Amino acid sequence: MKQDLILTIFGSTGDLTARKLLPAITKLYKQKKIPNRTMIYALGRRDYTTEVYLNQMNEQAFKPLDLKLLSRLVTYVNMDITKVSDYDLIKNQIDSVKQESTRQLFYLAIGPDLFPIVSKNISDSDLVEIGNLNQSIIFEKPFGYDLASAKSINEMLWNYFDEKQIYRIDHYLGKEMIQNIMMVRFANRIFEDVWHNRTIKNVKIIAKEDEGILGRAGYYDQSGALRDMVQSHLMQIMSLIAMDVPLSYFSEDVKDEKVKVLHHLSFDADSLILGQYQGYLDEKGIHEDSKTETFVFFKASVNTPRFKGVPFYLMTGKKLDKKESLIIVEFEETSEQRKWNLPLSTNKLYIKIAPVDGVGLVLNSKVPGLTDDVETVELEYCIACNSYKNLSEAYEKLLLDCTQNHKTLFTRWDEIESSWHFIDQIKKHQKTLVQYASMDDLDPLIREKTGESMQ
Ligand SMILES: NC(=O)c1ccc[n+]([C@@H]2O[C@H](COP(=O)([O-])OP(=O)(O)OC[C@H]3O[C@@H](n4cnc5c(N)ncnc54)[C@H](OP(=O)(O)O)[C@@H]3O)[C@@H](O)[C@H]2O)c1
Repeated sequence: MKQDLILTIFGSTGDLTARKLLPAITKLYKQKKIPNRTMIYALGRRDYTTEVYLNQMNEQAFKPLDLKLLSRLVTYVNMDITKVSDYDLIKNQIDSVKQESTRQLFYLAIGPDLFPIVSKNISDSDLVEIGNLNQSIIFEKPFGYDLASAKSINEMLWNYFDEKQIYRIDHYLGKEMIQNIMMVRFANRIFEDVWHNRTIKNVKIIAKEDEGILGRAGYYDQSGALRDMVQSHLMQIMSLIAMDVPLSYFSEDVKDEKVKVLHHLSFDADSLILGQYQGYLDEKGIHEDSKTETFVFFKASVNTPRFKGVPFYLMTGKKLDKKESLIIVEFEETSEQRKWNLPLSTNKLYIKIAPVDGVGLVLNSKVPGLTDDVETVELEYCIACNSYKNLSEAYEKLLLDCTQNHKTLFTRWDEIESSWHFIDQIKKHQKTLVQYASMDDLDPLIREKTGESMQ
């Protein structure tokens, strides 16, 4: 039977496929968001049948997979993705079920070291034809290791594919509240006139994890927190918070404004704190004298007319007190402060990303009763509490957008290029790693350098 959608996964035996991609496809299919005639080819070097493959994936997944449904959709193809001679196997299968209108996605759920050889093989075997917009190729982060390696990967990709065919995933962009940043900023009149350096005092972008490296020593020890979290997720958030109003909300106009922010960044080298959690060197697979940072804090500036002079405090780390990702936009004190003669708080907008998505607004309010005292209150909207049944995972949204050729939530090359340029600047400033057991060891240092607390 001819198919309307064909998804081919390279690296199909990995955790990403088991934990994110197969559950996301299952949900999209059940909700009829993707065509009824969908086919998935899972490519792998392990000598599995489709049945054995799916059982193995079921064991790796966080939650049981719908094996009945997946066995109808998935075919496992045993091949070596590094050998072009093996590509006939998959090409013949795809050719037999595709028609001219079939949407074809090629998902590289593999490390970046395999991007060059797999891209070349895909092109040499005519699996993807340059310029055919029905065929898209999807790359997972990390996209490179530094600016030079990212450039060389990208130049290689442009030999084989048109930019319009390339989807670079940063899964944070598929998260509900990250998608919501633009809506909160630009669809609410109350923020329109205050989103600038005359009213905003500072911005904090925080991504704390309570877990360690969870057995991913090989990847993490090469990467560290700056490359793993800041270059991608935190820089993307900063550009969404600081961007100017785009000409339209179509993908390219939004990206044009985000890139302008990334081109105007600087950071305060004195504020930089790099840390490593106690016990990191005892983790399996970590080199005994590893200098990899598991914690980063620094103060950055966005030198645009809109945000010049507003400190952006960025912080991320592992083995901290709790899992929490959020953005705090703090506003200046009210001009009426003196007249009130009360301990007023500054207004704050919270954009909460994890563990629970939502928005909060901190206001001053009169304490109910006969006195004139003030109290700080938070108006809170918790997305998950209101729509828990329908809340979609980042990968559902991203895969759906790939099937529909929507590119807003995928990173364009110039975004990646400018964020790597920024990270390379930071990387030049080698700092002694602070050993930490918890945020209590780090927050006094942050306060000493900036006067701000990040707890
Ligand atoms: N897991 C996540 O949630 C997540 C989130 C964001 C980004 N990513 C990124 O996505 C990519 C895949 O992640 P993952 O967690 O799925 O990694 P993984 O569990 O290590 O799986 C890697 C996959 O690549 C295959 N592979 C590795 N070396 C190969 C080779 N030389 N030839 C052929 N196949 C090879 C593996 O096949 P075998 O099984 O045969 O070894 C496996 O299917 C990575 O770049 C990762 O950084 C992952």
